[in-house]
Amino acid sequence: MHMGASFIFSAAHEGLFSTRVCVEVDISNGLPRFTIVGLPDTAISEARERVRAAMKNSGFTFPRTRVTVNLAPASIKKQGPMYDLAIALSILRANGQLTNTDPLDNVFVIGELALNGALRPVRGALLAATLAKELGITGIILPAENADEAAQVGGLKVHPATSLHELVFNINQDTLPTHKKSPRNKIPTTYDRDFHEVRGQEQAKRALTIAAAGGHNIFMSGPPGSGKTMLARALPSILPPMSAQESLEVTKIHSIAGTLKAREGLVSARPFRSPHHTSSYVAIIGGGIYPRPGEITLAHHGVLFLDEFSEFGRKAIENLRQPLEDGEVNISRASGSATYPTQFMLVAASNPCPCGFANDPTHTCECRPAQLQRYKERCSGPIMDRFDLFIEVPRVKTNDLAQTPTGTSSVEMREQVCAARLLQLERNKCKGVLYNQQLRTKHLRDICKLDKEGAEFLKKATDALHLSARAFTRVLKVSRTIADLADEKNINVAHLSEAIQYRASL
Ligand SMILES: Nc1ncnc2c1ncn2[C@@H]1O[C@H](COP(=O)(O)OP(=O)(O)OP(=O)(O)O)[C@@H](O)[C@H]1O
Ligand SMILES: [Mg+2]
Repeated sequence: MHMGASFIFSAAHEGLFSTRVCVEVDISNGLPRFTIVGLPDTAISEARERVRAAMKNSGFTFPRTRVTVNLAPASIKKQGPMYDLAIALSILRANGQLTNTDPLDNVFVIGELALNGALRPVRGALLAATLAKELGITGIILPAENADEAAQVGGLKVHPATSLHELVFNINQDTLPTHKKSPRNKIPTTYDRDFHEVRGQEQAKRALTIAAAGGHNIFMSGPPGSGKTMLARALPSILPPMSAQESLEVTKIHSIAGTLKAREGLVSARPFRSPHHTSSYVAIIGGGIYPRPGEITLAHHGVLFLDEFSEFGRKAIENLRQPLEDGEVNISRASGSATYPTQFMLVAASNPCPCGFANDPTHTCECRPAQLQRYKERCSGPIMDRFDLFIEVPRVKTNDLAQTPTGTSSVEMREQVCAARLLQLERNKCKGVLYNQQLRTKHLRDICKLDKEGAEFLKKATDALHLSARAFTRVLKVSRTIADLADEKNINVAHLSEAIQYRASL
C-alpha cells in the first residue's frame, strides 16, 4: 500500500468572515486507524464515516493503515460537513489513487459527501470563493449546486462536481469542467400582491410609500380584517431594486444561513421576512451552537415584517432595539462569536387591543381595563420609540369592497419610491448613509434643511406637542423623505405637518 502525505486547501467561516484551512493527510504504517484532529466538532467526526463509505462506494480503496487528517490551523473553529471532499481528495492524493495532482495545487475544495459518493451542497460557498480570489488562488472545486453562487466572484475558475468518482476521473484526465457565470438574475417585475388589490386605505398606502422611500420603520394598528397583513405583504412590490453591492451582501448572508435556493446566483429581490410570532428568540435574533444569522440578519437591506406584533416574545422584541440602532448584531457563544449586519426596515402590525375593536366606530371594545393595560404595556416603551410612522388602518366599508379597485397601484407607488431613493443616494452618499432613516443627529443640520416658515412651525410644534429629542429627530427624517417624494430641496410646513400626523397616538 502507498504511504505518503498531502494537503489541500479549504475554508472556514466565522460570521461573514472566512479563513483558509489546510486539510493535511498523513498515511503511515500501523494498525488501521482513521483520526481527524484540529478541533473538529462532532460533524467532522461523522465526516470520517461519510468519507470512508463514499470512497468505498466510488470504487476506491480506503487505506488499511494509519490515516491522520489535520485541519489546520487548529485555533480556528470549524463546523459543518464541508471538509468531506477535501479530506477524501487528500487521502486519494496521499496514497496515489489520484495520479494527476497538479490541478489541486492552487484550488480550494469544499463539499459534503453522501455515502454513495455523490456531492451535496454546502453553506458559505460564495464566501469561500471570495476568499480564494483574495488570496490569489486560481480555482475552486465544489458541488454543482453551489457553482452559480461561487461564479459570482469574477476571475476565479469554478469547477462543479457531482460525484467523487467523476471528479477524480476528471482530475486524472485533466478534463475538469469550468462553470460559466450566469447572467445576473432579472429583478422581478411581477409580484404576487399588488397595492391595486387593496380597496381604499389610501392613507396607509401613502404612509407605506414614505416608509419604503426612506427605509422608515412603520407600525400599523387596526381592527381584525381591515387589511393590515394584506398591505404589508404588498410591500415587496414597491421596494426599490438593490444595488450590485447590496445584492452581494444579501447573497453572502443567505449563503451562510443555507437559505439560498439551489442554483441561485445572486439574490436580486430585496428580502421580505415575516417570521411567525411563535418563532424563538434565536430564530429572530440569531444564535445557536455556532452563531447563525437570525431573521433580523436575513432581512438585511430589506423588510422585517412582524405581524401580530403584540404576540411576539418580550425578549425578542426588547432585543431588537440594539440591532435597529446599530445596524448590526453581535452574537457570542462558547464556540465563537459572530457579527452580522442588520439594516432592515421594521414593519409591525397589530390590533389596538385584545378584542381588536378599540377605536372602531362600529363595534364596542369588550376588553377589561386590566387587559387593555397589559396589552399596552407589551406594545410600549423603548421599542415603540423606534417606529418612525404610526398609522391607523380602519375597516373598509362593505360598499367599497364590492366595487372594482380604483386606488393607487404598486407601479405608481414604486416610481415615487425609486425617484425619492435616487435623490437620497445622491445627497447622502458623502455621509455613508443610504436612506434617510439612517441619518444621524450630526447629519441633520446639513441634510434636513428647513425653509423659514418650516423652522418656525417646527419650533411651535415641538413646544405645543412636547416632542422629545428622539421624536424631534424622527419628524425631521420623515419630513425629509416626504420632501424627497415631492422632489423639494428644502423641507416646508406641508412636509412637516404630514410627518407630525404619523406620530404615535398610543
Ligand atoms: N382594504 C381591503 N381591500 C381588499 N380586501 C380587503 C381589504 N381589507 C381586508 N380585505 C380582505 O380581508 C382579508 C383579511 O385582511 P387581513 O388579513 O389583511 O386583515 P388584518 O388587518 O391583517 O386582520 P387581523 O387583525 O385579523 O390580522 C384579506 O385577505 C382581504 O381579502
Ligand atoms: Mg393580520
